Amino acid sequence: MIRTLIRGTGRYVPERVVTNDDLAQWMETSDEWIRQRTGIEQRHWVSETGETGTSDLGLKASKTALERAGWKPEDIDLIIFATLSPDIFFPGSGCLLQHKLGLSTTPALDIRQQCTGFIYGLATADAYIRSGMAERILLVGAEVHSTGLDISTRGRDVAVIFGDGAAAVCLEGVETDEPIGVLASVLYSEGKHAESLMLEAPASRICPERITHEMLDEGRHYPKMNGKLIFKLAVTRLPKITMEIMEKAGIKTLDEIDLIIPHQANLRINQFYEQALKIPEGKVYNNIQKYGNTTAATIPLALDETIEKGIFKKGDTALFLGLGAGVTWGANLYRHA
Ligand code: UT7
Repeated sequence: MIRTLIRGTGRYVPERVVTNDDLAQWMETSDEWIRQRTGIEQRHWVSETGETGTSDLGLKASKTALERAGWKPEDIDLIIFATLSPDIFFPGSGCLLQHKLGLSTTPALDIRQQCTGFIYGLATADAYIRSGMAERILLVGAEVHSTGLDISTRGRDVAVIFGDGAAAVCLEGVETDEPIGVLASVLYSEGKHAESLMLEAPASRICPERITHEMLDEGRHYPKMNGKLIFKLAVTRLPKITMEIMEKAGIKTLDEIDLIIPHQANLRINQFYEQALKIPEGKVYNNIQKYGNTTAATIPLALDETIEKGIFKKGDTALFLGLGAGVTWGANLYRHA
């Protein structure tokens, strides 16, 4: 049967580091509050001058992934770009990246699944590959949050969390009888919670124009979050989906999973998750301390680091999982080959 394998990974974060103390100059917050409530110590934001779009970060990450895979851009059959912060309202960042890679007509699609963008993207890529619609896919998760945050006390609950960054993986289909590559994926969404984490405007449903000066004054173009609800949903659903995907893949105990890369939304969420399932120390990989929440980029960013550091080795099985805006939640199991 055809299996989907990762052939190369890459990551890129902008050079500008914004510490918690930096944020405390612009809003009422403190290094102590941010560390205690989220685990975040710093994040990378794009430069305050010039224009750096999400596809620019994605391009840098993609170049590294392509190089490590030994691929040329022309080898790609399809680009899947996961982001909630596209360069422009439309067309999607996948199209912009396609052009920046020097490609002429390679198909590109964007997916808007926020924190589960990579998980949905990997499941989608796996389906394309196993159905024979594509052999080689470039999957990118990238975000530029910093230009869209309310960097004031009004927006502090959201602003302190998010960072900019990108990561990419090259995925290839191989014919094999071995249980390797993407072993299983599980996806969910529950739109009734859409307003618990959303960016309301500009929006096509707002008539007669998508945004007004009044809306800008009220800050309705900034993301709003019911943090407590999202936190509760994450700590209850992530353990459940772990059990579900293990059953789907025929994995009986957590001992058979070598590495768990959860979405990096809040270190406390991941600690609750670890405790709920009594996961042995060292199995869950976190890097939110350095990057904050880079949404669609968090899981591939961590994946790239674990491969580079030799933590995720050939033969190991990894679980990727997360929950975020939508709400959407999901997981993939992947065996490295
Ligand atoms: O990736 C997308 C998915 N998102 C998530 O998974 C996020 C899940 N939620 C969270 O991570 C947490 O809810 C937050 C980190 C966003 C907030 O932490 P919390 O422990 O739930 O705090 P809270 O919202 O209940 O606020 C507690 C207090 C409030 O003050 P009062 O009302 O007690 O006086 C807030 O106004 O902390 C205040 N506060 C802050 N103080 C300093 C909120 N944000 C900040 C801040 N600095 N940045």
